[in-house]
Amino acid sequence: MLAVNAIDVFYGESQILTQLSVAVGTGQVVCVMGRNGVGKTTLLKTIMGLLVPRQGTIVFDGHEIGHLTPYERARRGIGYVPQGREIFPSLSVRENLVLGARRKRPTPESLDYVLSLFPALSQMLEKRGGDLSGGQQQQLAIARALISDPKLLLLDEPTEGIQPSIVQEIAAVLQQIKGERTRSILLVEQYLEFARSICDHFYVMEKGVVALEGDREAFRVDEVSQFLSV
Ligand SMILES: Nc1ncnc2c1ncn2[C@@H]1O[C@H](COP(=O)(O)OP(=O)(O)O)[C@@H](O)[C@H]1O
Ligand SMILES: [Mg+2]
Repeated sequence: MLAVNAIDVFYGESQILTQLSVAVGTGQVVCVMGRNGVGKTTLLKTIMGLLVPRQGTIVFDGHEIGHLTPYERARRGIGYVPQGREIFPSLSVRENLVLGARRKRPTPESLDYVLSLFPALSQMLEKRGGDLSGGQQQQLAIARALISDPKLLLLDEPTEGIQPSIVQEIAAVLQQIKGERTRSILLVEQYLEFARSICDHFYVMEKGVVALEGDREAFRVDEVSQFLSV
């Protein structure tokens, strides 16, 4: 589904990712972990086309997509939930969702689908996004990415700074999506028990390279947490 092959990514002259390779199979959930500043967000932005690698390739759904704009990548089926959510605070929940559907209007089915995943949002469609709690905004951001029916969902720390009850709701939704087996998920996550419970494969990054990877059976919370402690 997705293969990131040996990418080098820079901000100006500072190299952030070095020969980094990551793969996500169809229907798989793959988690990326690592300390702050190791390049996790940089990786997702590069997959989305917001940053351009100096070296390496990105293959999505059988095609090299390195030359495509972020908009074209979204049209091909990549959904992105950025770190910090970035919903539109002055627009209503409904308007935020409509924007997720991009040029197309959301079909009634797609709206029903995301509201079935996040029933709380259906009570708030006319509320301003900025008036939602942090956890509700995160749910809105995920719903907005799902409304265009992506084949691959990129999620950047969806549980960061969110109250535990909503973390559980988000975890349940991601499990449900996984159960549908039609979408792949690349999840950047620091909450290790959650990552382990949902991932098929995991990567731990250190300073722009993969330091540890494995399938879920090989995921030891104590081992991974050693890479995260300062
Ligand atoms: N816009 C930027 N300009 C320059 N350096 C940046 C920029 N954004 C991030 N960085 C640097 O790139 C490195 C990786 O950042 P990031 O990908 O956000 O890490 P993570 O998501 O793992 O915390 C950090 O050293 C960070 O300071
Ligand atoms: Mg980040």
